[in-house]
Amino acid sequence: MSDSNLLKSIQHSFIGRDTQYPTVDGNISPRRYLDSAASTLMMEPAFEVTREFLEHYASTHSKLHYAAKGASEAFDWAHKRVLDFVDADENIYSSYFAGSGATAGFNRIATEFSAQRPDRDIVLVSEMEHHSNDLPHRAHAGEVVHIPAMGEGAAYGGIDVAVVQALIGKYGERINYIAVTGASNVTGAITPIHEIAQLAHSVGAYIVVDASQMIAHAPVSMNDADLDVLIFSGHKIYAPGSPGAIIAKTSLLNSMSPSELGGGMVTDVYLERYMTAGLLPDREEAGTPNIVGGITLGAVLDVLMRVGMNNIRKKEIGMIDMLWEQLSAIDEVNLYGPAPGDVPRTGTMTFNIKGFDHGLTAAALNDYHNIQVRNGCFCAHPYVREMLKRELWDMDLDPNALNAEADIERKRGMARASIGLHNSQEDLLALVEAIKDLIARKDEIHELYEPFGSNGYRHREYAPDEAAIFDPLITLEKALKG
Ligand SMILES: Cc1ncc(COP(=O)(O)O)c(C=O)c1O
Repeated sequence: MSDSNLLKSIQHSFIGRDTQYPTVDGNISPRRYLDSAASTLMMEPAFEVTREFLEHYASTHSKLHYAAKGASEAFDWAHKRVLDFVDADENIYSSYFAGSGATAGFNRIATEFSAQRPDRDIVLVSEMEHHSNDLPHRAHAGEVVHIPAMGEGAAYGGIDVAVVQALIGKYGERINYIAVTGASNVTGAITPIHEIAQLAHSVGAYIVVDASQMIAHAPVSMNDADLDVLIFSGHKIYAPGSPGAIIAKTSLLNSMSPSELGGGMVTDVYLERYMTAGLLPDREEAGTPNIVGGITLGAVLDVLMRVGMNNIRKKEIGMIDMLWEQLSAIDEVNLYGPAPGDVPRTGTMTFNIKGFDHGLTAAALNDYHNIQVRNGCFCAHPYVREMLKRELWDMDLDPNALNAEADIERKRGMARASIGLHNSQEDLLALVEAIKDLIARKDEIHELYEPFGSNGYRHREYAPDEAAIFDPLITLEKALKG
């Protein structure tokens, strides 16, 4: 099958893409899932590999029976798929799996890099980061200096290489490493990682890239960019349930002492001492690893390599430009982040409808239009507050007020629509029409909803039985009855 045919056919092969949900009008329809930046749906052919693997399931720590050999080989294959996917030469780089997403990797790298080079007491971290690529550095590095993004107000975002250069000039060899996102989880703004890597290396600093939001949307080459570390979550690339993936220069990983001890990462243990395994990834994967998740992720990456990340990027650029253009044309919509013509973006679009709190927008899109989006500050609070500050000042609210202050969370946030491979232009046009519909019915919608919790909204009259939508016990009982 040619790349473009595979791209077309794979778009329909996601579990849950067409799951039906009820709407206020009494109808039931397939959902439009626009929440891939939070977590993606499962790619079906990859899940088939997982299902088949389960027929042969065994621990990779058993060695000599057929199933254990197969599991070990498949798990090795998954590590290799990770290296191939990010174009990392296996003579230079190694990959390992950890945790349930990217967060475990950042904590590990921050702890280790800071311990190894205490004389380098500065870490540069961009202001656009997800908390997972900010707080571990704050906790473990000597001092975090935040790299401001470009632009002003709602258009704030994207990293200016000249700003990084100035910080490099200021702090020089005090910088241990630079931690930047490959693409923002709020605006999709893509970071010039090649240039930043060069700047980091000019003073002997490392570069750590958070690829959680770029991995499913844009090609990356660790070889070409000479990246030191790249980390991403498997659940953001069509493999829910898979672990975080860490790819780093083997020389760096070899200089780290294992942080977790247990089975699988030792060659021998005596009562007085133990010897840790010299080999990666075992040294970094203490205990029984997430074998099933790793193999699912390997299968997804294999499919995406067949499709070609350049083809995926090309397709998504068209969708991003179209959505930006359509939403910019609506006066009642505030759009956030730099325009895609100014800074390249992935298909993550944050917006507010004027006069609607972000929670009301998300709830009404769900209840009336079966469109699933996220709302809030997306674990990137400083970045979101910076973009919202003028709007909040206009409402007489302090963007930096503590969240205990009345109703601030209801105003301080955005709605976020984010695409995955399974989305079509039609999904995005449906979103645009749905937003127009909510604007047209603003007063009615306000009357029909009541606030709850710190930033939620619920319909006053329409309350479908959420347990009937998915209840693990009902599924289990059906399965038990056969
Ligand atoms: C840019 C970015 N970095 C890091 C993370 C953290 O990933 P996880 O929660 O899978 O550890 C996320 C998750 O939303 C993210 O979007």
